[in-house]
Amino acid sequence: VQPAAARWATALARWAIPQELIDAVPESPWPLPPAMFAYRPPPAGRGDTPSVRRAREALPARGVVLDVGAGGGAASLPLARDCALVLAVDESEAMLRAFAGAADAAGVPHEEFQGRWPEVAREVPVADVVVCGHVLYNVSPLVPFAEALTAHCRRRVVVEVTLLHPASDLNRLWRHFHGIDFPARPTLDDGVAVLREMGLAVEVERWEAPPRADGDLRVLAAFARRRLCLPPEREAEVEALLDPADPLPMTRQVATIWWGPREPS
Ligand SMILES: C[S@@+](CC[C@H](N)C(=O)[O-])C[C@H]1O[C@@H](n2cnc3c(N)ncnc32)[C@H](O)[C@@H]1O
Repeated sequence: VQPAAARWATALARWAIPQELIDAVPESPWPLPPAMFAYRPPPAGRGDTPSVRRAREALPARGVVLDVGAGGGAASLPLARDCALVLAVDESEAMLRAFAGAADAAGVPHEEFQGRWPEVAREVPVADVVVCGHVLYNVSPLVPFAEALTAHCRRRVVVEVTLLHPASDLNRLWRHFHGIDFPARPTLDDGVAVLREMGLAVEVERWEAPPRADGDLRVLAAFARRRLCLPPEREAEVEALLDPADPLPMTRQVATIWWGPREPS
């Protein structure tokens, strides 16, 4: 294992939740609620995000987009009108159901593949552009994951990630409820170092996403309460600690990372 790849794996392992906290509650802390990742078409007049722009500029007319860790389709469905087909990979069946509904609503042909990337990659066709939004901090080891993304693109891979681990917004809550501090790493720069160590010609653009348009504070509070290994009756306490105007400020600090296919050797 190369040094940056090993650093990524070691840093990510330090984000493990202590087993005794997991064992103390009936629900698993890990599932992500599909409602938190429901696709909402961007408000009229708001331009493309840098990630959508980088994907669009590489997409041929009526091209095919592959969305890995698709969730509700936030990374791919803004391209719906410009492509002939969207392929979605996700390990969660519930997410793929939400994706399929949103793709129907967007009027784009779509196909779903349930399973973990890169394990399912062999079943998934190659696409013009591969997009992957907010998945990398869930991935260890990172090299085979990124290699399979690269092998599936004819033109470009576009990855969106937060500058810090997406659970960083919960750090003050972990401290508050359990007296636990999670580490600052890995960061965007650690991830980019792995990709560059693989020999990929990676480009990076940092940007700030707008605060989430909320109605979904309840959904976020339910997610946070469960991730924090707290029982349902403590949900109001968690919700009271979130700022309704900007409940997850750190996850708004994001970056778009993109690279092309490997040159044939
Ligand atoms: C944080 S959500 C992001 C969803 C969407 N891409 C977005 O930007 O809103 C991460 C998604 O990736 C999926 N996921 C995480 N690791 C995966 C893996 N190795 N293979 C397939 N899906 C994965 C999860 O089930 C979840 O739906």
